[in-house]
Amino acid sequence: MRYRRMPIEIESPEAIGYGRIRYNLAESSVTDAVLGDLDLSLKDVVLEYGDHMGRPGLRQQLAGDYDGVTAEDVLMTIGAAAALFIVNTSLLKAGDRTVVLHPNYATNVETPRALGANVITLPLRFEDGFRLGLDALERALTPETRLLSLTYPHNPTGVMISRAELERIVALVEANGAYLLFDETYRDMAFGEKLPLAASLSPRAISISSLSKTYGVPGIRMGWLVCRDPALMETFLAAKEQIFISGSVVDEAIAEQYLAQKDVHLARIRAQIAANFALVKTWMDEQTAFEWVEPQGGVVCFPRLKPDAPVDTGRFYEVLNEDYGTYVGPGHWFEMDRRHFRLGYGWIAPDKLARGLETLAEAAEKALR
Ligand SMILES: Cc1ncc(COP(=O)(O)O)c(C=O)c1O
Repeated sequence: MRYRRMPIEIESPEAIGYGRIRYNLAESSVTDAVLGDLDLSLKDVVLEYGDHMGRPGLRQQLAGDYDGVTAEDVLMTIGAAAALFIVNTSLLKAGDRTVVLHPNYATNVETPRALGANVITLPLRFEDGFRLGLDALERALTPETRLLSLTYPHNPTGVMISRAELERIVALVEANGAYLLFDETYRDMAFGEKLPLAASLSPRAISISSLSKTYGVPGIRMGWLVCRDPALMETFLAAKEQIFISGSVVDEAIAEQYLAQKDVHLARIRAQIAANFALVKTWMDEQTAFEWVEPQGGVVCFPRLKPDAPVDTGRFYEVLNEDYGTYVGPGHWFEMDRRHFRLGYGWIAPDKLARGLETLAEAAEKALR
């Protein structure tokens, strides 16, 4: 493995220091929950090594939400991040061909690279509405392809694919003898109908998710993977045991109690996302320097400074960060042109979001060439 730190982590809000950021539009999750507000009862938790697969009640709860999936098909991990690592390192070795959506959550591209895999990127372009070209995907998927790695609802653009597209993708993966890693971390935040769980469609599809993004509890580091192939699951469990044996029993107890109230939390969270999204949409409609592809899920979108807007990109970020204390995720976090930026609108309070958006327009004005 050849590890390199990624700009998205080096420049993350927690690395900069939350205290230094006034308008935090760089987050990709909803507002973080506070432990004391959650009405938890943790006194009886025995601080032992937990079940290596993860707390049985928790896995049952998660499996209960998915068609055709049992608790045995669910492996708890340290965030979706560890699930991505386990799946990539279990399925890929140096030289293996893997097809990866691009841009993407940076780890999804970086881990196969760190392994020395032959990474073929599937580019999404603003001009195409960031739509996945199924013909390009079909050409990229060959019998030599070991793994296809997709993320929907997509980070950083918030775009979606349809159920029919997912079914076609699964069929293509099966026909080529490949596996599908489907990062579904934003699944519960689709604006329309949710996609079926990819793992429920095929034993060759592995679904990955976590509580971090939709539920605002990234600090408990609770993720999971779902896989209906028992032999593959045995390999994933072996990887987990070699990395961290079992998860934190405290985190798993918190997750189980939190999810017992899932519907209550989701109703509140969905209302907050809808209200904040409405602010962004109204603001975006009025912009002359920015344009976007309207997202269909999640809490992020990926607008850009219009190509013909006479704005100096470097100066724009300088003014934004230094004069206003506003932070977004610049394009280079995703190996994209820096005129793009990821705008996260789910984490911040509505009044601060409204002002933060204004500062984007003011910074563009001040950075005119
Ligand atoms: C698409 C996607 N997958 C996975 C992760 C990892 O999150 P976590 O490890 O907190 O679950 C993130 C975090 O930003 C993400 O955006």
